[in-house]
Amino acid sequence: MTGFVSVARSEDIKEGALSRVDVNGRPILITRVYGRLCVLSAICTHEDADLSKGELEDETVWCPLHASGFNIFTGAVTSPPAEEPLEVYEAREYDGKIAVSPIPRKS
Ligand code: FES
Repeated sequence: MTGFVSVARSEDIKEGALSRVDVNGRPILITRVYGRLCVLSAICTHEDADLSKGELEDETVWCPLHASGFNIFTGAVTSPPAEEPLEVYEAREYDGKIAVSPIPRKS
């Protein structure tokens, strides 16, 4: 668990609900989809919009500002105007808590 940062209690991260946490000062989006934890950058790569204020529809998170779509598992852009993917982070769940790596996963 070295380096992982505890960010939430398991019960607070609900299926289909977008939450925002800070990991070493970085805004991070966290949710569950099909029971899987999904952890990505919370800031849209198009401009400076908070994706936790967006909408989650199936496997897509929609930006609240100009409606870019991103895959919630991979961070890939599924709908423009964004062109760059979101960073994705590794998460671990243990003892009723969720911890997140402060370093994005390599794509
Ligand atoms: S800021 Fe997200 S689509 Fe423009």
